[in-house]
Amino acid sequence: MTQFDAIILGAGAAGLMAAISAGRRGRRVLLLDHAEEPGKKILISGGGRCNFTNLHCAPDRFVSANPHFAKSALSRYTQHDFIGMVRKHGIPFHEKTLGQLFCDGSARAIVAMLLAEAEAVGVDLRCGQRISAVEKPDGFRVTTQSGAFTAPALVLATGGLSIPKMGATGLAHEIARRFSLPLVAPRPGLVPFTFQGAPLELMRGLSGVALPAIARCGKRAFPEAMLFTHRGLSGPAILQISSYWQEGTPIALDLLPGLDAATVLRERKRARPKAEPKTILAELLPQRLAQAMAEAHLPLPRMADLPDRALDALAAQLKRWELLPAGTEGYAKAEVTLGGIDTDALSSRSLEAKAVPGLFAVGEAVDVTGWLGGYNFQWAWASGWVAGEAL
Ligand code: FDA
Repeated sequence: MTQFDAIILGAGAAGLMAAISAGRRGRRVLLLDHAEEPGKKILISGGGRCNFTNLHCAPDRFVSANPHFAKSALSRYTQHDFIGMVRKHGIPFHEKTLGQLFCDGSARAIVAMLLAEAEAVGVDLRCGQRISAVEKPDGFRVTTQSGAFTAPALVLATGGLSIPKMGATGLAHEIARRFSLPLVAPRPGLVPFTFQGAPLELMRGLSGVALPAIARCGKRAFPEAMLFTHRGLSGPAILQISSYWQEGTPIALDLLPGLDAATVLRERKRARPKAEPKTILAELLPQRLAQAMAEAHLPLPRMADLPDRALDALAAQLKRWELLPAGTEGYAKAEVTLGGIDTDALSSRSLEAKAVPGLFAVGEAVDVTGWLGGYNFQWAWASGWVAGEAL
């Protein structure tokens, strides 16, 4: 068969969901992917356990040039709808932290669930397909090495540019451009920061040290864990703030969240004047970080030797450590791609292109990016589902 009601490019999270949603409505759906198996990012997600949604999903947890755009899809296919599907398939899961739902076992269960749902509604899934042409003579015609397929509707679900090693390509963006849909400049999101010079030297020495912190950039603040790496900074708090960071601007770190550091340091000096500064700091911070901070800022042997103003200066630094990232680790390490197909060009109800009837874009290809914590999959499920309802 070469004629379908809808052709979906990309059998990832959003494409599979669009196929299921359209298939349930009796549409004949062709789902094409160049990879040898579908849902590869689902398989590696959440450390192999797939953080498949978030209990606290809400539109304000997404980055987009239009912060209102995601509201419609997210309210019509919610985290509870997806949880319902997971329960229906008897997949055990748990809340890890901050509303993040993970499989108890392997992420394979989520892919198996989606494949079972797709098969049940007759989706024609073909992997290993090299898409060589997409044309619109009347409806849409997609050519692969297996031949040409036509349909009145085409869904762009090939995701963003993150992790090219896993098969990410800019196909959705390229096709969008060809149909004159505008793009918001793509950039890596949920990505570790790199540093240069003295900060990098310090961070290298602390590589592997993790601690709770608050990462800030502009008005945004994320209280989560952070990690020093041999190239700079990573960990959830850093990944979260990276999606709000603009090149050339600083970030600020609170390494002692919830603590009045100046008061605590002064009190400990009074209580234990003979203690070494690094010993006192190691009660508040991981040992290697405490030692590095003591060497850099408290160069005298005993707490009693240090004037209060030296303690205050260190406290201020620990509460607001301003750093200028040199850059990020780029698409090779970014969990997501910010930017993408401009939401102005799409209907928020159906994800259909306003100027090209029959052309849809869903998932990460669109300029909607979630926070870390299951939000990106929820956007993929929701946008895929509502597009499928309009196919
Ligand atoms: P996705 O990338 O899933 O699918 C795109 C599909 O299109 C792929 O199957 C690909 O092979 C195919 N394709 C690409 N180019 C093509 C071409 N030229 N021709 C044909 N097919 C093509 N999110 C979350 O909510 N919880 C989590 O736990 C994680 N964890 C995580 C870990 C890691 C390491 C990464 C990189 C990302 C995450 N994410 C995540 C993000 C999440 O994986 C991502 O947002 C969704 O997979 C996006 O779904 P899409 O369907 O839009 O793209």
